Amino acid sequence: MSILDVGFVQRFVRMCQDGWEQGWHERNGGNLSYRMRPEDIEAAKPYFTTPKEWKEIGASVPGLGGEYFMVTGSGKYFRNVASDTADSVCILEVDAAGKRYRILWGLVNGGKPTSELPSHLMNHEVKRAVSHGAHRVIYHAHPANIIALTFVLPLKDEIFTRELWEMMTECPVVFPKGVGVVKWMVPGGREIAVATSELMKTYDVAVWAHHGMFCSGEDFDLTFGLMHTVEKSAEVLVKTLSMRPDKLQTIQPQEFRDLAEEFQVTLDERFLFEK
Ligand code: 13P
Ligand code: ZN
Repeated sequence: MSILDVGFVQRFVRMCQDGWEQGWHERNGGNLSYRMRPEDIEAAKPYFTTPKEWKEIGASVPGLGGEYFMVTGSGKYFRNVASDTADSVCILEVDAAGKRYRILWGLVNGGKPTSELPSHLMNHEVKRAVSHGAHRVIYHAHPANIIALTFVLPLKDEIFTRELWEMMTECPVVFPKGVGVVKWMVPGGREIAVATSELMKTYDVAVWAHHGMFCSGEDFDLTFGLMHTVEKSAEVLVKTLSMRPDKLQTIQPQEFRDLAEEFQVTLDERFLFEK
């Protein structure tokens, strides 16, 4: 038995591999974090090493005081997570005040958690509160089609949501709350973390202009599936725009309302404007 046999570790590693195989994680692109359950902490504890020193998070997350996370390392490649997990990821503990963290396992050859730790933890803090503890996974990737769209669509939540919903009938069912868009900002810091976590109060998806996407979900399958669905929809839109700039036909606002009723989801009228 090793920590690599523990269920949540296996699911974390599989998600990294899945993302790599999708082509969303060139070099060290993207990062993943998981807020551990009490039983995950119990299962992983026997493998914890001497804790490293406390370090500043770079953001304040009092709502996560005392929580444990598995997080990918900064500069580490998703491609290597499955073959060298202990070098690529870590388990960290957040202090009671939510200002500092310390590594309890992993990153065995040195290094630190992802440079997007402020965004991950601020998103976790928001999502933990609004989902009453249900959301545990925050995922950042660099999928090509959604990035491409940030050069040709206005950077507005309403436009991105409506265009993505129109591309595949299941989209409004998979992400009924829509997607938020963050204008281009310097990555890795508190400012972009604040902007993203503000959107996460409403949405499960935040698009980062000319950079990538953040998704939040209850578990690994739902969060990966959300990223996959949004990116697939973006791919259809890129193909459609490449064939002709205007659509010959598409799903209409009333058809979205009919769909919402049948699938029992609530779609904000903000996204169902007449064009
Ligand atoms: P890290 O290697 O620090 O996780 O950064 C990758 C990335 O995608 C930054 O946005
Ligand atoms: Zn990135």
